Amino acid sequence: MLFEFPDDFTWGAATASYQIEGGVNEGGRGRSTWDVFCDEAGRITNGDSGETACDHYHRWRDDIGLMRELNLGAYRFSLAWPRIFPEGDGAPNPEGVAFYDRLIDGLLEADIEPWITLFHWDLPSALQERFGGWRSRETVKRFADYAAFCAERYGDRVSNWFTINEILCFTEMAHHEDRFAPGGRLPRKDVNQTVHHALVGHGSALRAIKGVRPELRVGLVENLLPVWPIYETEEHVSAARKAFREYNLQRLFPVLTGRYDEAGYESRFGPLPEIAEGDMELIGGAADFIAYNYYFGTPIMAAADGEGYREVAFPDDYPRTPKGWAISPRGLYWSLRFSGEFFPDTPIYVSENGQAAVDREERDGSVLDIGRLEFYRSHLEMAWRALHDGAPLRGYFAWSLMDNFEWTDGYDMRFGLTRVNYRTQQRTIKASGRFYAEVIRGGRIL
Ligand code: FCB
Repeated sequence: MLFEFPDDFTWGAATASYQIEGGVNEGGRGRSTWDVFCDEAGRITNGDSGETACDHYHRWRDDIGLMRELNLGAYRFSLAWPRIFPEGDGAPNPEGVAFYDRLIDGLLEADIEPWITLFHWDLPSALQERFGGWRSRETVKRFADYAAFCAERYGDRVSNWFTINEILCFTEMAHHEDRFAPGGRLPRKDVNQTVHHALVGHGSALRAIKGVRPELRVGLVENLLPVWPIYETEEHVSAARKAFREYNLQRLFPVLTGRYDEAGYESRFGPLPEIAEGDMELIGGAADFIAYNYYFGTPIMAAADGEGYREVAFPDDYPRTPKGWAISPRGLYWSLRFSGEFFPDTPIYVSENGQAAVDREERDGSVLDIGRLEFYRSHLEMAWRALHDGAPLRGYFAWSLMDNFEWTDGYDMRFGLTRVNYRTQQRTIKASGRFYAEVIRGGRIL
């Protein structure tokens, strides 16, 4: 039937530790690079930080109740590495470890599948201070050890693991553009090295997990650079396909093929990193799935000259979210299509998709966020279309379960299916949440 999803499709919502937990000084947690970054004047809108966030550290049980109300089958969350290893390595912190034990057990009791992200940017700041974080292979080694520990500890109850969330955001945007923690303006070659280390980190963690429990499924969360053809004719589709490959040569293609395309890499991303023996074997080929966070894509048309394609600039009046992101659901369709064409045997999950909106509370406290609701509807339709056209899409996670700390935008940007009143910490499911809950209940878009 039109817009009906398979019975075994995974339906979930996602969050990340630093964005929701709070409790940064509790339970023996160490500091993360994001705590340090938020302390620097002028980094975050309104001087906000994740210090309290959604207070999920204390309210996790109620939040599981919220997930049940939303009919979630799966919940993607990240472990705070500094809660488990406050110094990044050494002895694990029993209180931190136990926090995630309780959360996982609570999810299972509620019949919700836990999906763990090992690293969603909150690096133990000790590793930043000691080794320069992802600039160094010392961090890679410790990441693999941390992954092995978590697989051993939680792998009896958690089958699906994401190693790393969005490499771009803690390499390029952090070490080159100075926008995210830890901040900095490294030259291209050095920033490419941090990307390479993160890729080796992904591969090392994956092997470490499989070394402990071979049956676990492991993948990477990639923020793809998505494109879509403005006309769906063969000429423009093949131009967009070419752009899709070239834009994603730095991370996606190496992870799924185990190779860097040297010429393509250098012309778009600058000098190749230094590659140690065995790196490419570690990086490539072994992921059980790939996951994409999708927010917007770039429109492409065929061009007679140059690379055979060109980007089409968005007109000034093109619809955008308050984040400034152009609403482009067809980018999701074409990403899933192209990914499926290039890598037909790699299952795909949409690990994040959602929209910031200026939500308004009605007199009775409800939030009728029909802009976000339509965002979900249009993107889910495109996900369905991709599935219908053969893309190996296996699941979808909305971003986010609830409003939360949106990095440098602080609490100004709300992405939740649920409203969080940061004064009272009260949660209220929004219209988009009600819509999504109905989609999940029926397994189809209404
Ligand atoms: C992604 C991040 C996620 C969230 C969304 C809006 O890049 O993975 O933590 O901030 O953007």
